[in-house]
Amino acid sequence: MRTPIGSRSAMNEVDLDAIHNVSAFEELARQRMDPGGFAYYSGGAWDEVTLRDNVAAFRRRRLLPRVLTGVAEPDTTTTLLGREVTLPIGLAPASQHGLAHPEGEVATAAAAARAGVVMCLSTWSNRSIEDVGAQPSGPRWLQLYLLEDRGLTADLVARAVAADFDALVLTVDLPVPGYRERELAVRFSPPQSFGNFPAAPGPDDTMMEMVGAVHAQGLTWDDLAWIASLSRLPVAVKGVLAPQDALLAVDNGAAAVWVSNHGGRQLDRSPAAIDALPAVVDAVAGRAEVYVDGGVRRGIDVATALALGARAAFIGRPYLYALAAAGAAGVSRCLELLRAELVTAMVLLGVGELGELGPQHVL
Ligand SMILES: Cc1cc2nc3c(=O)[nH]c(=O)nc-3n(C[C@H](O)[C@H](O)[C@H](O)COP(=O)(O)O)c2cc1C
Repeated sequence: MRTPIGSRSAMNEVDLDAIHNVSAFEELARQRMDPGGFAYYSGGAWDEVTLRDNVAAFRRRRLLPRVLTGVAEPDTTTTLLGREVTLPIGLAPASQHGLAHPEGEVATAAAAARAGVVMCLSTWSNRSIEDVGAQPSGPRWLQLYLLEDRGLTADLVARAVAADFDALVLTVDLPVPGYRERELAVRFSPPQSFGNFPAAPGPDDTMMEMVGAVHAQGLTWDDLAWIASLSRLPVAVKGVLAPQDALLAVDNGAAAVWVSNHGGRQLDRSPAAIDALPAVVDAVAGRAEVYVDGGVRRGIDVATALALGARAAFIGRPYLYALAAAGAAGVSRCLELLRAELVTAMVLLGVGELGELGPQHVL
């Protein structure tokens, strides 16, 4: 099924002050988005065990409050790959923001820059590296897939450098798309062209087929070294779950290891991201930054991730749904809610700075 462009139903504006948690954006997005686009955003692989477990695993953790610590106004700032950010929360790369809002990634980038958080632009974005680069400056990273066409891959890196991006994120968990039944059921076909490369979708091309045709396969750690050699930008490796792979990533030059199961969209029954984090943190042993994404829906999830050793937690669907609900203002509200929740969590845990969060806070 081809998803028509601009088919968002005419609906009343969302009263953002009446939204009190980021999960509330999902239903608003479902009402506003074309069903094909919503299936693409919301779905996971196979039985969606990992998709559900990403959220559930955070909720299984228990946090140990500390009292009478004197903490009143905790500091949520940190640095990621050398650049200061206001929050240890970033926007994970996600393809096709145009399914959510006509301004697509440009709206997302504007909201991220306003909030002072990292936005990671997907290879498969609707808007180009240059369009996003032209937005008010903010910490900005480019997510790369290694494409069958090496020249095109190298060109993306050169364009990111020219557009003043701060880092590259090499996603390594998608040599082929996971088996996503919600997408299959609607035969999801991208309705818009992609900003970063010429592959224009034909009316009958499904997203899964396009990805299968364009992504390189049979990759090895040498390919990470190749990407790192193309520019001076630091490279994060996204999609690591096994501690052995984390070690290999660092040994092969990764500046950061990003623990992720791709939001439950790749290998179903792989561990929840937060459950995979501690062993990766141990393996990396401080030689690189460690991030996590998958199932982060609350500021207390962010506190949990940092307590277990992540330097930052990233969100995917929450901001996509917020973008669908209310454009850039929705993304801003999403970040504001998470910020406020994180601040409250820090006061209740008795930590004035993010670096004080540790395993002693998680039972
Ligand atoms: C609709 C959608 C598209 C995505 N596209 C990409 C992508 O292009 N590149 C990538 O590295 N990860 C992609 N991801 C994975 C996200 O970066 C992230 O790992 C995941 O969404 C985190 O889980 P969460 O949605 O539960 O927050 C995508 C996720 C979603 C939901």
